[in-house]
Amino acid sequence: MHLRNVLLTALLTALLTSTAHACAPPRLHTRAADGQDFPSTQPGPDIPPPPSTAGYFVNHAALNVRNLTRSVAWYRDVLGFQVLFTFRASPRYSVVYLAHSAPNGENGAGYQTAAELTEAMMDGRARGLLELVSYDRSDSDEGGDQGGVGRSMRFSHVGLIVPDVLQAQGRLESLGADVLKRAGELPELQGPAGEAFGLPGDVVERHPEDAELISRALRDVLLVLDPDGNLIEVQSLRGGV
Ligand SMILES: *[C@@H]1O[C@H](CO)[C@@H](O)[C@H](O)[C@H]1NC(C)=O
Repeated sequence: MHLRNVLLTALLTALLTSTAHACAPPRLHTRAADGQDFPSTQPGPDIPPPPSTAGYFVNHAALNVRNLTRSVAWYRDVLGFQVLFTFRASPRYSVVYLAHSAPNGENGAGYQTAAELTEAMMDGRARGLLELVSYDRSDSDEGGDQGGVGRSMRFSHVGLIVPDVLQAQGRLESLGADVLKRAGELPELQGPAGEAFGLPGDVVERHPEDAELISRALRDVLLVLDPDGNLIEVQSLRGGV
């Protein structure tokens, strides 16, 4: 057989095998009772979620990126995401929402258009969105997309939708959650919130107009930290960013 065919067959076999694995239920290694058998998988406990969390779901995960143009093109061309919209909160601060389109759109296009995906998001039907967050540093001393390194340039936040943000806030507070900012308050942009949203430390001094607009864009959301300091953004549908 021609070498190319051998490679293709091997690739196809690998793909089919991995697909089969993806569809199969996880193989549970129940012999791990002594904790010494690896790999092992234990099923999670079937504990019903607290009734007061009914309607909570993850709408998006957000990443800070250094160069929005470059990242949008990469997620679109390399990973097949579609751009829903770009939200420009201030002259230097933009976020882009992306999603994978369902195979068939509702309008005969063969894919979901930006408008269709955006509508689904606004109606609470879209999940698994990706938000790219960018503060344009091209006029800073740090220089273009070289500016900013470390945590503030990577993971930003998980965006949660809840039926009623004030109710969720009361509940989280009563549980002793680390509330960074309540819904309706303006956020402190220096510190953990600014870090999570990819803002340079000196943005408030250098560009107060940006700081004010970004603060306002975040006014209606509730910001909570998880036990590791990861930021969770909580909002109701049609409220906040
Ligand atoms: C951002 O990325 C685009 C596309 O790769 C590139 O043309 C542009 O020069 C980059 N901008 C900066 C400030 O580096």
